[in-house]
Amino acid sequence: VSLGKTLHPMPMCFIRWHYGLCFMEILFHRSSLGTNCNGFQKAFVTQTNSPLETTIVYDCEKRTRTVTEDLFSNFPKDAPFSDKILDTCAVVGNGGILTNSSCGAAIDSAQFVIRCNLPPLGNGYSKHVGKKTDLVTANPSILKNKYGSLTGRRRAFVDYVSIYGDAYMFLPAFAYAFCTTLSMTTLYTLEDFRSSMKAVFMNPDYIRSLDKYWRAQGVKPGLRMSTGFMMVSLALEICNNVDVYGFWPFNNHPYGFQSLTHHYYDDVKPYESPHAMPAEFSHLIKLHNQGVLKLHVGECPPQ
Ligand SMILES: *[C@@H]1O[C@H](CO)[C@@H](O)[C@H](O)[C@H]1NC(C)=O
Repeated sequence: VSLGKTLHPMPMCFIRWHYGLCFMEILFHRSSLGTNCNGFQKAFVTQTNSPLETTIVYDCEKRTRTVTEDLFSNFPKDAPFSDKILDTCAVVGNGGILTNSSCGAAIDSAQFVIRCNLPPLGNGYSKHVGKKTDLVTANPSILKNKYGSLTGRRRAFVDYVSIYGDAYMFLPAFAYAFCTTLSMTTLYTLEDFRSSMKAVFMNPDYIRSLDKYWRAQGVKPGLRMSTGFMMVSLALEICNNVDVYGFWPFNNHPYGFQSLTHHYYDDVKPYESPHAMPAEFSHLIKLHNQGVLKLHVGECPPQ
């Protein structure tokens, strides 16, 4: 893949926004995402969008769950952020492309930083991936495999997540039945250990509407859209300028052609992925070339 020819350095715009992105295209995507998916109100399960006695329909298996008092009391009253549009957001994937990128300072300069799947940030990584985190997703398989579903000692988990400060931990609580139990346990663990992190649950309604929206735009996200792509969609709604880092679903660097590890922190490939990363990625390239977001591959210029 020769990216130099694919990624446009400065897309054509009718009205150019600061940072070089295109104002009209950004507005178009924000308003159509807002109308069709409404991430501001719907991305997180809240007491407002999921009142008592209503039914939650899971997004990965045929299952429903009534919102009981017990469940309801764990939902935040309202969406964790107001509907004020932020200026800059960084969405950080975990691709090996971030290795040696020196993108840490650029990432940390964003007002709102979204990360995926509880990635490590220490160990000399911060120069390349930054430290700031406002929202981080947590895949149930990590909680299960690495932290024994938090049924045993939980201190190591709480200590580990202190690297994210007071960020929101975003859990797919209503994907499969086991995710609900696991997400509740995670929420209780964070509370019981007085972690500064707050657990929030992904709303399966939002995931369904995103899937429908992007399929209508011609994206074929495989069985299930990746969390990274969902986070890019959310950022497009809540932010004027979206910078995307760490997304590069290929084994070689686009400029230096050196081989890359699967993640910036390990080379563990998924056993069987339900996602279609290259299809999602080619859409990110399209959005980049339309001036809707900025995709960063390769090194970041010194700040
Ligand atoms: C990153 O830099 C180190 C040290 O210079 C080098 O050994 C390594 O091969 C580089 N990795 C990549 C993927 O560029």
